[in-house]
Amino acid sequence: PLKPTADLIAAARAGRHALAAFNVITLEHAEAITAAAETAQAPVILQISENAVKFHHGRLAPIARASAAVAETAGVDVALHLDHVEDPDLLRQAADHGFGSVMFDGSHLDYAANVRATREAADWAHAHGLWIEAELGKVGGKDGEPPLSAHAPGARTDPDEAREFVAATGVDALAVAVGSSHAMTDRSAVLDHELIARLGEAVGVPLVLHGSSGVPDGELARAVAGGLVKVNIGTALNIAFTGAVRAYLEQAPADAVDPRKYLVSARENMVKTAAHFISVLG
Ligand code: G3H
Ligand code: ZN
Repeated sequence: PLKPTADLIAAARAGRHALAAFNVITLEHAEAITAAAETAQAPVILQISENAVKFHHGRLAPIARASAAVAETAGVDVALHLDHVEDPDLLRQAADHGFGSVMFDGSHLDYAANVRATREAADWAHAHGLWIEAELGKVGGKDGEPPLSAHAPGARTDPDEAREFVAATGVDALAVAVGSSHAMTDRSAVLDHELIARLGEAVGVPLVLHGSSGVPDGELARAVAGGLVKVNIGTALNIAFTGAVRAYLEQAPADAVDPRKYLVSARENMVKTAAHFISVLG
């Protein structure tokens, strides 16, 4: 069934494990993620990013309602989250279509502007009963940008600034820059575990890891043991999806035109990948 994000996060925190939050682009993503969660009997988050909404011609409702319908009929608890929102108009649609939470992403702004915009987003979210995550520091690799080097400004979230940011904005969770980067197609990221521990102590709210596709299993497990509560995974599912489609089309005859023939392999491959990440997160 569809559940509020806040409830799933609270249970994960109490159980000292992490919730996997997978990015949904197509209906097949939502079906695959939910199937993997059902097999593991683990709760899961389906998240739709602002970029995915842009892909769907700027319309949130079709993919959101499809994902909510998949969640409602699931055999495990599933929450719906709106991810990496920069557009205030999109933020305000998060109160519709079953969303339990939203991430407001002001990480491209300077500190003062990020605080102001996030505070406004948090006030709005809480007035509408939504759990809200924000980002401080820059997790690189968004929108095709290269990953940030470890020494680039903002590539590491500062614990003192994070404490002040959470207090000033009232957010329920914080996405932090601790060594991961978005859209990595190899799993070579090295996390700063000492920083994760310091951030956890400083902020008092759950920490969120972005760009988790590029983080090796052992690093993920260690970060969860160190207190990370929500782990966002997108690219790994797309690697599985595209790999399966490519393998099918490379050997298919020219008159093989039914998309279900390869979407079924794509979906099955995404189930395997999602199941793997769920098992690593405990
Ligand atoms: O918010 C989404 C995630 O941070 C996904 O990142 O595609 O690198 O796994 P990823
Ligand atoms: Zn992200």
